[in-house]
Amino acid sequence: MFTLAHLSDPHVPSPLRVGVSALATKRALGYWSWRRRRVYIHSIDVLEALTRDLAETVPDHVAVTGDLVNISLPSEFAAAARWLETLGGGERVSIVPGNHDAYVAVPLEQSWDLWRAYMASDGPGDPATAPAASGPIPFPYVRRRGRIAIVGLCTAVPTPPGWASGRLGRDQLERLGGVLAAFGDAGMFRVVLLHHPPIEGDNPLRKRLTDAADLQRVIARHGAELLLHGHDHRCSIRAMAGPAGGVPAVGVPSASASVAKTKPIGQYNLYDISPSPRGWSIDLRVRRYDATLGRFQEAGGQRVAPQPADGATMDARVTADA
Ligand SMILES: [Fe+2]
Ligand SMILES: [Fe+2]
Repeated sequence: MFTLAHLSDPHVPSPLRVGVSALATKRALGYWSWRRRRVYIHSIDVLEALTRDLAETVPDHVAVTGDLVNISLPSEFAAAARWLETLGGGERVSIVPGNHDAYVAVPLEQSWDLWRAYMASDGPGDPATAPAASGPIPFPYVRRRGRIAIVGLCTAVPTPPGWASGRLGRDQLERLGGVLAAFGDAGMFRVVLLHHPPIEGDNPLRKRLTDAADLQRVIARHGAELLLHGHDHRCSIRAMAGPAGGVPAVGVPSASASVAKTKPIGQYNLYDISPSPRGWSIDLRVRRYDATLGRFQEAGGQRVAPQPADGATMDARVTADA
C-alpha cells in the first residue's frame, strides 16, 4: 500500500511588505483582498498543526496543488520555501503552481527556482530527483515511487486583474498524453496533479481552466487513475471519462483555513492506494482542522475507485459534511 497526502492552497501567510511600485500592478487588488479578507482566514497556526499531523499520519508522499503564496512577492516565495521544508525534501514532496504563484511575472530566481526541487522529474532510472540547474521548469514533471507515477502539470499563467484562470497549452497536453500512455502501458498508478479543476464548467470563465476540454480529451484517450486539484477551496469529487470507466478528480479545501465561512475549514486528504483484482483501490481518509482542539483529526472517508460513472458527481459523503 502507498499512502499519498494531498493538500492545497496554503496561501502561506507572511508579512506582505509592499512598496508603491509593487502595488502599481495587479498586486494592488490582491493586496487589498488579502488585507480585507484572506488575512483572517489563512493561518500559520493551522499550517503548523498540519505539519505536526503529517508527522503522525506519515504518508509516503505529499502532494501540494498550488497557491502557495498570495500576490507573488519574492519574500512570499522564500517564506513558502521555508514552509515546504517543514513537510520534507523534494524526494518526498511534490508541488504544482497555482494562479497566485503566477500572480504577476516574477524572475525565476526570485520565485519558482526556490521550489525547483519539488517540481523536478526523476533522474534517469533513479527515483532520486535530479533538478535541472536553471531555465524554465519542464512540465509535466514525472516521478516514480514504486508503482506510483506522479505527474505534475502547470496551469499557472499570469492573467489580467480580476482573473484567476489557468491554461495548460497544447505542448504540455501533448507531452502529458505521451507520459500517460507510457505509464499506462507499464501498469502504473498514474496520479495527475494540477491546480485548477479539470472539469469544464465548474467555474466562471475568469476562474476556469480555459483548455479543460482538451485535458478531458487526453484523459478520455489515455486514462489516469486519479486527478488531484485545488483552487476552489472546497471538497469536490467528480468522475472524468476515461478509456475504461470513470477517473476520479478530487478537490480539497485550503490547507490553512482557520475558519469555515463561505468555504470549509482547513483539510487535507490521505489516499491509501493498493493493487486490487479490478486494477487499483483508492481509499480516501479526510483529515480536518478542529479549531477548538487546534489540531487536525480524522473526519470520515470513502472508497473513490473504481468508478462506474463518467462526468457525474461521485459519492457525496465527503462533500456533504464539509
Ligand atoms: Fe487558492
Ligand atoms: Fe487558485
